[in-house]
Amino acid sequence: MTARQTETARVKTSAVSVAFAGTGAIAGIHARALSSLPAGTAAIVAATDAEPARLATFAQAHAVPATYATLARLLAGARPGLVHVCTPPGTHHAIALACLRAGASVLVEKPPAISVRELDEITAAQGPDGGPPWFAAVFQHRFGGGHRRLAALARQGADGPLGRPLLALCHTTWFRDQAYFDVPWRGRWETEGGGPTMGHGIHQMDMLLDILGDWTRVSAVAATLARRTRTEDVSLAHVTFASGAFASVVNSVLSPREESYLRFDFEHASVEVTHLYGHADADWRVTPAPGHDDVRVAWREAGVPDDARSGHAGQLREVLAALRGHARPPVGPADARRTMTLIAGIYASAFTGRPVIPADLAPGTPFYESMYGGARR
Ligand SMILES: NC(=O)c1ccc[n+]([C@@H]2O[C@H](COP(=O)([O-])OP(=O)(O)OC[C@H]3O[C@@H](n4cnc5c(N)ncnc54)[C@H](O)[C@@H]3O)[C@@H](O)[C@H]2O)c1
Repeated sequence: MTARQTETARVKTSAVSVAFAGTGAIAGIHARALSSLPAGTAAIVAATDAEPARLATFAQAHAVPATYATLARLLAGARPGLVHVCTPPGTHHAIALACLRAGASVLVEKPPAISVRELDEITAAQGPDGGPPWFAAVFQHRFGGGHRRLAALARQGADGPLGRPLLALCHTTWFRDQAYFDVPWRGRWETEGGGPTMGHGIHQMDMLLDILGDWTRVSAVAATLARRTRTEDVSLAHVTFASGAFASVVNSVLSPREESYLRFDFEHASVEVTHLYGHADADWRVTPAPGHDDVRVAWREAGVPDDARSGHAGQLREVLAALRGHARPPVGPADARRTMTLIAGIYASAFTGRPVIPADLAPGTPFYESMYGGARR
């Protein structure tokens, strides 16, 4: 064997073999993100989709060597190390369970499931004693440089440069016209699990919770104001955190000037990001309180490796590095559950007209079972 052949063989053995369940719009973004990573990080070995024409187009575009008509055949035939679950939300639970039971780890698109119960069942199907196969959820906006800086500073706690967190705004004000809801799986509790609270604001709520930690109480309203859809098209919530901080959360698909806005007011600085579908360092603004200019220095020197724009490539890099090191990939079950539980709490409060605490969402309760509280809609 020449040195080059030896190197090729080494790369081949260390690359994670990945497969796709679902080859629609977001699968293309995953595949392009994979191709942007260093050679030898991952190799796409197989794909499946309920629609043969989509599967064939995807396989050709991304040089996928094997396609399968069903997931069961893919799992038996290709034996992938990781399956990217890129199907509509209502199918994630069954697909993730099948993959985990076949020994493949799963990276599941958001929302990871359509109820907290389904998510708990996926979590329970992981390998024994915390080992593989693992579940991870796609929350790519945690992996931008600005969010990492903020997380690194916030984790230093009340004695760190930011001081205590006091107030946050988490606003996902997007626009989706009526045609958007023509896709059969959209706008229905059984297939999408909810409206903009579940499908759109989930990313920003994930960022909010990554910074502020556990929530203790939520009061919310939700309504269908303008679209023909079975779910809400707008929701507003106020959330209390274990730290004592408050947050205002708004989720909308009715907002002609679209924006994703997060604002954190800490004792010693306001930290804000304004973006739409992804943020770069330049989208973040830090405003120190009087006498706390040192926050700017701490922000610059926060020990973040790069200022990468948030996106799938950033998360995939970390997921694959973890798997190659036989470690649990991010974002794991505990974080996904905290976000899903807040969403369940928003729906529970909106539907019952009462404030909700996490204990109201314990196993067996209506909003643990489904985001609409069990009643058929
Ligand atoms: N992370 C993000 O920013 C982001 C952005 C958009 C969509 N998403 C999520 O990605 C997922 C897919 O969304 P999309 O926009 O790619 O949808 P899409 O409709 O474009 O693609 C879904 C694909 O899944 C296939 N499919 C459906 N049921 C299947 C099954 N049981 N087995 C195999 N294939 C099946 C469909 O034929 C289709 O090709 C959703 O969960 C969505 O919320 C995430």
